[in-house]
Amino acid sequence: MQHLDDLIREAHRRIDTSTTLVALNDVRVHYLGRKGVLTEQLKSLGALPAAERAGAGQYINDAKRLVNEALDRRKQVLEQTELDAKLTAQALDITLPGRGHEPGGLHPVTRLLARVQALFERMGFRMETGPEIEDEFHNFDALNFKLDHPARAAMDTFYLRDWPLLLRTHTSPVQIRAMLAYGAPIRVIAPGRTFRHDSDVTHTPMFHQVEGLLVDEGVSMAHLRGTLSLFLQHFFERDDLQLRFRPSYFPFVEPGAEVDIRCIFCDGGGCRICKQGGWLEVLGCGLVHPNVLRACKINPERYTGWAFGLGVERLGMLRYGISDMRMNFENDIRFLQQFR
Ligand code: DAH
Repeated sequence: MQHLDDLIREAHRRIDTSTTLVALNDVRVHYLGRKGVLTEQLKSLGALPAAERAGAGQYINDAKRLVNEALDRRKQVLEQTELDAKLTAQALDITLPGRGHEPGGLHPVTRLLARVQALFERMGFRMETGPEIEDEFHNFDALNFKLDHPARAAMDTFYLRDWPLLLRTHTSPVQIRAMLAYGAPIRVIAPGRTFRHDSDVTHTPMFHQVEGLLVDEGVSMAHLRGTLSLFLQHFFERDDLQLRFRPSYFPFVEPGAEVDIRCIFCDGGGCRICKQGGWLEVLGCGLVHPNVLRACKINPERYTGWAFGLGVERLGMLRYGISDMRMNFENDIRFLQQFR
């Protein structure tokens, strides 16, 4: 019994001085394992005189229970200590501001398109779309591009292997599709992607245009001028915006013109943006060529019309000061964020 008491005291001491769960488990195995010290004691009971056996057995079992309880208590303490150490090591400061989710925003081109569309829809224009993969008939022939005319070559067209298919070089073919579908009178705008084999600060191979078309009886250049000045004044939020029509050539209009606005950066005084000229080119337009009306089965003796085509990214340069057109399509978050 004296020996057993010493054993138990020693067990308690070793339990209380164990500093890791691994060490504590070794202590458990040492005393209570299959070949543990206390287990062996029980096995040696058989050697005792029968009268002492029950009392000794009881005593050993009580000892085992106490050791077991001491082990469990110590285990809880060590587990808590290990958890605390782990939590301190992997410190997580839940009071720090989170990384969060940044709100998205509309792409500048999307914004510009929406703005142009809203202004024309207010004037009763309805929206039309056409395919980005076009054919020569709609992109060129019906628009009065002669087969050998340099304008056809000047478009830097991407041709598809399946001639006569191509990536449309402008939104003007939608004029043809709309007139063939609805006839006259008609009033539409057609926004969309266009493609040309060209890339530098002011050109990207894919870009956007908005086409406008109005055909009715008695339509004149004066209507065109009125509509475009109203649109441009609202677009640039300048009631005093001055326009200039410069004669220009496009096969599908006669007369054709390019429209300049008084430079909105220097008010015409001359600056880097207008290259000291005081004017900024914004779009092409004109009165629909009789050949085009005819190709669309509209009688040019009865109807006249006007059309225009503007470059959306070009408007973005002017409205947002985007100096390099390519930035629109490089997906640089620092650029895009500015339009949130
Ligand atoms: N399609 C022409 C281009 O991409 C722009 C244009 C000019 C469109 C005159 C028109 C127009 O509708 O009347 O360069």
